[in-house]
Amino acid sequence: MIEISKMGFQYSGSDRMALRDINLTIQDGEFVGLIGVSGAGKTSLTHTLTGMIPHHYKGDFYGSVRVNGMDTVECRGEDLYRIVGSVFQDIDSQMVASVVEDEILYGLENFGFSREEISERLENVLDTLGIRDLRYRALSSLSGGQKQKVAIAAIVALRPQIIVLDEPTGELDPESSLQIFRLLRQLNKEFGITVLIVEQKIMLLCEYVDRMIVMNEGAIVFDGPARDVVRHTSTFEDIGINVPRVVTLCGQLQKKGLYNGQVPLNVEEGEKMVREVLRGGRHAGI
Ligand SMILES: Nc1ncnc2c1ncn2[C@@H]1O[C@H](COP(=O)(O)OP(=O)(O)OP(=O)(O)O)[C@@H](O)[C@H]1O
Ligand SMILES: [Mg+2]
Repeated sequence: MIEISKMGFQYSGSDRMALRDINLTIQDGEFVGLIGVSGAGKTSLTHTLTGMIPHHYKGDFYGSVRVNGMDTVECRGEDLYRIVGSVFQDIDSQMVASVVEDEILYGLENFGFSREEISERLENVLDTLGIRDLRYRALSSLSGGQKQKVAIAAIVALRPQIIVLDEPTGELDPESSLQIFRLLRQLNKEFGITVLIVEQKIMLLCEYVDRMIVMNEGAIVFDGPARDVVRHTSTFEDIGINVPRVVTLCGQLQKKGLYNGQVPLNVEEGEKMVREVLRGGRHAGI
């Protein structure tokens, strides 16, 4: 469980707070999406969970961040690594090996597992992530989507309770992005891993996450089920985040009194909404 209370952070040398008054609780097993424009503080928030802030990135830190009851400021980095696995925004900076198998083995060996355990975890993760065919490939020869999967595999092999991913689909095409989300859903549902994903593609968040957090200028502005959050279309516009078109259409239909059902989150639900409106229109003789 993650518990953040009255937390704020200002990087050394910066003249403004990167994070302001963050209060956030994430229960075990949640699948949470984090969205916001560039500079909103998304990466900084993830750094507070991995302990990078304030241990690696120095500055003024306020309030508290607890992971499984451990205070991230007071606890040792290695205790935290065992609970929170993170996939960086720039995965190339995270990769240490040149071959896929070695990349996965690196973390396992550093954690000091026995030979049998390492081999069992390696085999297991290759199957879970569906990357057995990449095992002996050079990392430099992989596509963006394959590389992301390997980065996630290296973390999943360590069996963390929480995985934090910073824009893992940023460089990926739509199909590879979907694959990553399906994979994360599987890890979340089958193994109960808590997932916190920073993502700009709002449609993917609407489709996959249980809970959507919106950040702006270092603060959390919305936090709740995607359906409740996206209906605040005018605030989204002010912030500069595009809401899905079906949501905008829903708002317009509601304003005209033509629709009062639930906010659609994807094309199928949008179609249902339009059919309902058309049916109602026919009844009313429009
Ligand atoms: N190492 C750093 N030193 C000083 N200021 C920083 C540092 N990293 C980030 N910042 C500042 O902190 C604020 C939040 O940045 P952060 O990287 O957390 O935003 P973000 O939401 O992840 O943005 P992006 O979508 O571009 O990745 C920004 O004003 C940024 O300039
Ligand atoms: Mg970022």
